[in-house]
Amino acid sequence: MSAAPFAPTRPAPAPGAGGDAARPPVLELRGVSRRFATRRHDTLALDGVSLSVREGEFVCVVGPSGCGKSTLLNIVAGFERPSAGQMLVDGEPVVGPGRDRIVVFQEAALFPWLNVRANAEFGLRLAGVPARERRERAREYLELVGLSRFENAFVHELSGGMKQRVQIARSLALSPRILLMDEPFAALDAQTRDTLQEELQAIWARTGTTVIFVTHNVREAVLLADRVVVMSPSPGRIRREVEITLPHPRDPDSHGVADYAAAIRDELRTEAAAGVRR
Ligand SMILES: Nc1ncnc2c1ncn2[C@@H]1O[C@H](COP(=O)(O)OP(=O)(O)OP(=O)(O)O)[C@@H](O)[C@H]1O
Ligand SMILES: [Mg+2]
Repeated sequence: MSAAPFAPTRPAPAPGAGGDAARPPVLELRGVSRRFATRRHDTLALDGVSLSVREGEFVCVVGPSGCGKSTLLNIVAGFERPSAGQMLVDGEPVVGPGRDRIVVFQEAALFPWLNVRANAEFGLRLAGVPARERRERAREYLELVGLSRFENAFVHELSGGMKQRVQIARSLALSPRILLMDEPFAALDAQTRDTLQEELQAIWARTGTTVIFVTHNVREAVLLADRVVVMSPSPGRIRREVEITLPHPRDPDSHGVADYAAAIRDELRTEAAAGVRR
């Protein structure tokens, strides 16, 4: 891969506004289905999923286990191919992975033999970015996630939350068009999770990155998202999309967040009851 110019960190145009309506969406899924056929099971993990994501938008995907959230994210990442339907990035059909879509996983996949800075630089190194620029960008993003003091530390010296911060810095350093996050805070203790949610709100406001974030935690989704996509299982479908019109940054203990979360939980309960009857 050759080195390409990276967009500098930029302020979000207006968090929540989602960019210029005249431009094509950053991401468009058109009737995407994904079937997994094994000898024992034939699973329609996604069935005719259509989703459009605007530039700078923060979209959270919630739904019960097995409803296809990770499959959806993996298709956007290019790790999985749809069985039917189409994906467009910036208006162009895309198949396969690319540096424009970077995934942050639940378990921080860091290299234990590299220090924090080298881990943060890793994607840039693979992309062929010259050493000096690599170092500058890694520093910039380690500062953004509050890890400047730890750039020479090794992975075993970091807490779980710090490891996730390194993973986020490494991903953002590549200036992806879309940052994909699959339950990135699920393995963390509640307090660290709260802190990282707060930090992610601030990071998103500063970078204006388009984010698709999968979570089981409805309150987390409401806290972070411009829009919450509620999925239902068997087959995996989008049941509803809820615009969260509360101003950013949000307080997790506010009435607004609690009210939206209650409404979405109701939706999920209704769906679960319907699923039992199906
Ligand atoms: N590689 C695969 N082979 C066979 N079936 C698969 C495969 N990947 C996913 N599935 C099936 O597709 C469905 C959706 O799985 P997926 O992992 O996308 O769900 P999820 O919503 O992310 O669940 P969770 O919340 O537990 O992470 C499930 O029924 C799962 O068993
Ligand atoms: Mg999953």
